[in-house]
Amino acid sequence: MLNKKSVEDLQVNGKKVLVRVDFNVPLDENKNVTDDNRIVGALPTIKYLVDNNAKVILCSHLGRPKGEFNEKYSLKPVVKRLAELLGKEVKMADDVIGDSAKKLAAELKDGEVLVLENVRFHKEETDNDREFSKELASMADLYVNDAFGTAHRAHASTAGVAEFLPSACGYLIKKEIDIMGKALSNPARPFVTILGGAKVSDKIGVITNLIEKVDALVIGGGMAYTFSKAMGGKIGDSICEDDKLELAKELIKKAEEKGVKLLLPVDNICADAFSNDANILVAAAGEIPDGYQGLDIGEKTIELFENTLKDAKTIIWNGPMGVFEFPNFANGTKAVAKIVADADAVTIIGGGDSAAAVEQLGFADKMTHISTGGGASLEFLEGKVLPGIDVLNDK
Ligand code: 3PG
Repeated sequence: MLNKKSVEDLQVNGKKVLVRVDFNVPLDENKNVTDDNRIVGALPTIKYLVDNNAKVILCSHLGRPKGEFNEKYSLKPVVKRLAELLGKEVKMADDVIGDSAKKLAAELKDGEVLVLENVRFHKEETDNDREFSKELASMADLYVNDAFGTAHRAHASTAGVAEFLPSACGYLIKKEIDIMGKALSNPARPFVTILGGAKVSDKIGVITNLIEKVDALVIGGGMAYTFSKAMGGKIGDSICEDDKLELAKELIKKAEEKGVKLLLPVDNICADAFSNDANILVAAAGEIPDGYQGLDIGEKTIELFENTLKDAKTIIWNGPMGVFEFPNFANGTKAVAKIVADADAVTIIGGGDSAAAVEQLGFADKMTHISTGGGASLEFLEGKVLPGIDVLNDK
């Protein structure tokens, strides 16, 4: 799929390799990494470089520290986890392009690993500042981007730096693009996409791109209420984007024209407040009484979705079916996760909430691929060019 050089196309022996990774991982109050998938995802590239005697300089952001040092966003806890996973010492610089980083980078021996501090401690990072990119590049001989989760950002360490060094992608980017790219360009059919989450507006690009490719489109989650209202349904106090009603109608029409089966919920689990402990009522879709809001899909909907999903050969899922953070409204997301996990199909889970749901519900091992990119996987599914990949050297 990808016509970019990969890390294996570079002569890395004895060379300093700057690797952009996405170590933007969640931490608990004791600074423990609570989901290390992104770190695990970067290990094949790091191990390859270590095994091939490169001097590895890793660089990442964590959170959005707005261009200044803030201990809360330090990468120290991540370095601790990385060292455990790698089973070897990992050095850590106190800064990004300062004395500490430059000294440690210069002293690196073959096969050693150094992590720079959070690259977003400099506002030049998100500004994609050319001088800052040059400074970063000056510490290394080669550049590898393996930060799929940040590949949709044209920042200094994800894009700008490639101007100054021979570049290639790492194994994680290659894997993400290969699997998702194949599903989009040459899917085993029937090809079904499940979209959920709160807002239609977040998924317009994905729907517009995928409606040209899929055999069926399954819509659940908060965004389904906008579709329900657009079709003249009563949605009570459910979440709705009134400025997207016309668009919803257009998308329904477009699906019809393209012969794409569009599945919307037929029943909903509704609550009289946005709370796990609210009073519950099951309502037919389009018949939700005032004072109630839909927070999950109902049993009939699960059955309807299952009938289409069980025959699918490619499934891409992005966005939960309900407010799965509330146990009383997690059933729809859980049921769909199980149906997808059991399907005899290539199953791809977009990052962000759906990936978290699948992990949390214990189905992660049963999926073909869980993307490490939330925004990035969404933009890829929209058919957009990701700048962090675009800048890399072609084969
Ligand atoms: C993510 O978590 O989606 C990536 O790390 C990108 O982070 P950002 O949205 O702060 O750029």
